[in-house]
Amino acid sequence: MVIGRSKQTFMKKPIIIANWKMNLNLRAVERFFGHFSLSDADLAKVQVVLCPSFVFVERVRFLIGNRPLALGGQNVFWQERGAFTGEVGAEQLADSGCRYVIVGHSERRELFQETDTMVNGKIKAAIKYGLTPIVCLGESYQEKEAGQTKKVLEEKIRGCFNELRSFELRKLVIAYEPLWAISTSTDTSSGDLADDPESAQVVHKNIRRVVADLYDARLAETVPVIYGGSVTPENIAGFAGMADIDGVLVGGSSKEPEPFQKIIAAYLN
Ligand code: PGA
Repeated sequence: MVIGRSKQTFMKKPIIIANWKMNLNLRAVERFFGHFSLSDADLAKVQVVLCPSFVFVERVRFLIGNRPLALGGQNVFWQERGAFTGEVGAEQLADSGCRYVIVGHSERRELFQETDTMVNGKIKAAIKYGLTPIVCLGESYQEKEAGQTKKVLEEKIRGCFNELRSFELRKLVIAYEPLWAISTSTDTSSGDLADDPESAQVVHKNIRRVVADLYDARLAETVPVIYGGSVTPENIAGFAGMADIDGVLVGGSSKEPEPFQKIIAAYLN
């Protein structure tokens, strides 16, 4: 199936996510806001989401105030409530002012053995409480080299979206995050780099094809699919220019306001 997507026709606001991971102490969070100088008029043209550690969610909510910036969690548990020491539920995130939540990030899949079934439960819990899940999917370097990117992503989409209906799919964001491209801009021991925007564009189109097969073409065209993995002020222009890349998920380059603002600025022209 050919999916003719025109950015003008289908793109809502570009989505730019700051995933601060387990970085930034309280001083660094305050400093970020002290030096974040983009105007509200500019921020209103895009959807910027800040995802701090859980312990700083309330503080960031306060620092955001009425500015057009959204708050997101970095993770959520699939159960609603109960004896789950150390976990945070979707209702709790929503009560704390979060509108988004990252699910299935590769660091959680690798370090905490999260599976597609768990991610599926997290998506359902998030949607139930009005949160927009940012569903991370990506292939390993070995899978990419073996030409399995398409197959791996299709399997992950089927697993993560199991039993989700169209109206639920309209409430989420897909983040294509090739595992081999994550954190390379801050990890100097790695020789790898971000995906190149043209290759990422092809993968995004394939993701839409899978969604079209599982659901329908209209949904495939409208579901936001963003890219993540070593996005920097130097390479953002390439990603921002691609028809099927609706925004970016930024780790290392979102820790300081200066590079992050440059990334946002790429979407303002
Ligand atoms: P990075 O992180 O920008 O540091 O590669 C992206 C991510 O992990 O989501």
